[in-house]
Amino acid sequence: QEDVFKKVISHAKEYGFIFPSSEIYDGLSAVYDYGQNGAELKNNIKQYWWKAMVQLNENIVGIDSAILMHPTTWKASGHVDAFNDPLIDNKDSKKRFRADVLVEDYCAKIEDKENKEIEKAAKRFGDAFDKDQFVATNPKVLEYRARREAILSRLAKSLENEDLADVKALIEELEIADPDTGSKNWTDVRQFNLMFGTKLGASADSAMDLYLRPETAQGIFVNFLNVQKTSRHKLPFGIAQIGKAFRNEIVARQFIFRMREFEQMEMQFFVAPGTELEFYEKWKQTRLKWHLALGLGDENYRFHDHEKLAHYANAAADIEFNFPFGFKELEGIHSRTDFDLKAHEKYSGRKLQYFDPERNENYVPYVVETSVGLDRLFLALFSHCLRDEVLEDGSERTVLSLPPALAPVKAAILPLMKKDGLAEYAEKIFNDLKYDFNLFYEEKDAIGKRYRRQDAIGTPYCITIDHDSLIDHTVTIRDRDTMQQERVPVSELRRIIDEKTNF
Ligand code: GAP
Repeated sequence: QEDVFKKVISHAKEYGFIFPSSEIYDGLSAVYDYGQNGAELKNNIKQYWWKAMVQLNENIVGIDSAILMHPTTWKASGHVDAFNDPLIDNKDSKKRFRADVLVEDYCAKIEDKENKEIEKAAKRFGDAFDKDQFVATNPKVLEYRARREAILSRLAKSLENEDLADVKALIEELEIADPDTGSKNWTDVRQFNLMFGTKLGASADSAMDLYLRPETAQGIFVNFLNVQKTSRHKLPFGIAQIGKAFRNEIVARQFIFRMREFEQMEMQFFVAPGTELEFYEKWKQTRLKWHLALGLGDENYRFHDHEKLAHYANAAADIEFNFPFGFKELEGIHSRTDFDLKAHEKYSGRKLQYFDPERNENYVPYVVETSVGLDRLFLALFSHCLRDEVLEDGSERTVLSLPPALAPVKAAILPLMKKDGLAEYAEKIFNDLKYDFNLFYEEKDAIGKRYRRQDAIGTPYCITIDHDSLIDHTVTIRDRDTMQQERVPVSELRRIIDEKTNF
């Protein structure tokens, strides 16, 4: 399983889907950039979600609210006071702090030692020094790495299982864990919130403390009345949004599964009090169906109903997906009651109520929320669809069998060779189809090699232009999954590609 995951990460990088952020500076932990193919795939997932939620539901509208919000928002939502990772009480200082910060500090210390070893060796060997080779074989460096790995995975596991006893035990071990001296190193006790802080304003004195939003939902809540009044929707109705969210996550190590900057696709459905659980059930089923329609296999999804509920919820479930590292949360469906709107009423002093003409009364609506991580959905698709195949002739290929509607490139236009007017003819086809589909044009390398590269990025069709094309205006079209080739008239291409890739 670990190998599968490694392959996913290296394939994502090699084929322009995902790069570590600011890689030339050795990256930024748990932050990633989407490359040319990743951006296309991500955009297609967004469109697919937006269409299903907004376009196909006459009572759901979409908005795009700002990442920066008035700081009181986060007091009202509970994020200032409650959005913490497990806090550990230090018996001596009576201070509380996060386990992950200690662990990160500890790991940073080990990493320092590791870097010193590397520097020493670099000096010793001079020009002959091969860093990669040294890091991969030096016993001391390997031991440092293993120690870091072990402690990080132990913390991640105990946090995941909410095993506070083990988190505490880990802290106690780290308390005396200065790698050299064995002395206590609790001098640096800090308290952390998961939100990223920033400042608004030019001068230091007048600057206002802000947070980068940790969820997109609050931008919807604060706009509830604006949207309801201007759209004139009656309850029940929903507001959807796609956007970035930021969390200063603990040691986040599962690639794009848990990131510090990520994207959410959320929808808040506003309903009359007392009807929320009925809508909660409905949205659970609707959202599961949406996932199943992607065709990754029904057996790879399951519900996880929450027993422990957040302070704002009266029912909650996750849709879990079978990632390469096991079943994990992909989407959350929460019945959030009137907690958020009521809290915003309290903190803002404004009424956030709806007049229900049928009940002939004013009330604060109840909310059912669906919230899916875009990057997690990306990872689900990417990791599930990536596979190595052995072909009949014994050769191998790597294919990314993405649902055609989501594939970054819909068709590759490939003249068999550049000369004899084939390139010009291919360009003509490219220019004719480029308004309707994202295409890829390539004239270099043997055709087999070009097919393999398209398989690896998930292109459903390869269109090859050969000498016959110039005479009878037909081309071959190769199917990614079956690898069958068919000769079709150029005039049919638009219809054929559209039929397969439309959603
Ligand atoms: N508004 C509700 C909310 O934010 P959540 O369960 O904290 O609920 C919803 O997040 C979804 O956002 C998760 O199911 C997950 O897919 C995604 N998500 C949360 N934290 C994430 C992170 N650090 N990296 C990537 N995706 C994340």
